[in-house]
Amino acid sequence: MSSEQKPVTTRSSYQKTIYDSRQPPPLGTVDVDKAERIAREKLRDRQDAYMYVFGSAGTASTHDHNRREFDKWKIIPRMLRNVTSRKLETTLFGVKYPSPLLLAPIGVQGIVHSDGEEASAAAASNVGVPYIMSTASTRSIELVARANGSGPRWYQLYWPVSNDITLSILSRVKKAGFSALVVTLDTMLLGWRPHDIDTAYLPFFHGVGAQVGLTDPVYMAHKGLKPYSEDDKPAWPYVPNHLDELIRNGDKDAQERSMLGNGWISETTPGVFKTWDDLPFLRQHWNGPLVLKGIMCRQDAELAIDNGVDGIVVSNHGGRQVDGSISSLYALHQIMQSPKVKEAQASGKLTILFDSGIRTGSDIIKAVALGAQGVLYGRPYIYALAIGGQIGVESQLRAILADLDITLGLVGYKDLDEIRGKADEILVKD
Ligand SMILES: Cc1cc2nc3c(=O)[nH]c(=O)nc-3n(C[C@H](O)[C@H](O)[C@H](O)COP(=O)(O)O)c2cc1C
Repeated sequence: MSSEQKPVTTRSSYQKTIYDSRQPPPLGTVDVDKAERIAREKLRDRQDAYMYVFGSAGTASTHDHNRREFDKWKIIPRMLRNVTSRKLETTLFGVKYPSPLLLAPIGVQGIVHSDGEEASAAAASNVGVPYIMSTASTRSIELVARANGSGPRWYQLYWPVSNDITLSILSRVKKAGFSALVVTLDTMLLGWRPHDIDTAYLPFFHGVGAQVGLTDPVYMAHKGLKPYSEDDKPAWPYVPNHLDELIRNGDKDAQERSMLGNGWISETTPGVFKTWDDLPFLRQHWNGPLVLKGIMCRQDAELAIDNGVDGIVVSNHGGRQVDGSISSLYALHQIMQSPKVKEAQASGKLTILFDSGIRTGSDIIKAVALGAQGVLYGRPYIYALAIGGQIGVESQLRAILADLDITLGLVGYKDLDEIRGKADEILVKD
């Protein structure tokens, strides 16, 4: 992969094109409430799939905290500065990207659109935004890489219990051109999600979201089977009752996928907790950037430095794992109070990324001012996928990047270096 990624051709000029042509964007603005409503309507026959995306753990209080913390921080606009020419460029792990935005790893995208992860990976590539592929995808590693083409891509690992399976995944990921490994720490056990429990909805139990496993030679050998073709994908739409019926009626394919999906859950969200002592195994077998996702406090950020990882994602998984938790933005602020973290960031030893609650350009400015070098965009792009597939995701990405570029100029800054870590000057909190 080249160290210079494709430029985003669609920042503030995207807004001008919309007004000039009198053509509203096909789908995306940054009004996520509206996108949520449209996606819900579009998925009216599959409310369980919509709720899988929308829902959070317990009472959804953590998700609410994520958004409320953004509202507490406010930007102070500055005037009469020459910010006519602006740049969103961001360097992460030595690679220059056109913006600080990355697509968050989101599993099971095939429940909301027939093109699933292929659509999002292709959209990300067209806009120059790195695509972080989830271990819980409904497409194989190889198929996502093909859809992403020459775009930048990272891989998110739900860390399997079996080391030989982990090694097999790492080797496939490397071969398929994924440059960074993001290890999610907060989901070694699935959170208590009432909205899914109410409908007993978990696609993995039908093998949906287990495509990385189904196409893995080592995982499949554990089951005494040959891997499925890398082009294999689950049937669309995913209708749990229909698959239950097939299984009851002895359909061999449905039965096998269900058995394999069950096994994949036991490998990847097993309820068996890894510890810091297990990290050297990954360090030893992955020579690219190693990033820990789910760090929520200063002590763990410092431990990440001690354990030689290259980056962290400050994240509470969009509030889907722990109810009643601190917000992710609050955690970022706390973590950045650590002199050790600040020093590691300044020296290039530790890269700090952020997610959980990013909805608009001004949210990105706030997260960057509080110290983030890059931000992961989550649920909004899945609503866009549900509404309009690849075009929907592209439209949503162009919108948030245009919003970021415009807002950056209007508050008086010409690039992200001018605001990174400068919350004291740029923001106030009430
Ligand atoms: C439907 C859904 C599936 C997700 N799947 C994964 C996943 O497979 N791996 C992962 O690390 N995070 C996963 N996440 C969490 C996201 O990567 C990200 O942390 C979260 O969406 C951020 O919150 P926000 O969408 O409210 O901004 C998922 C989130 C959602 C909404």
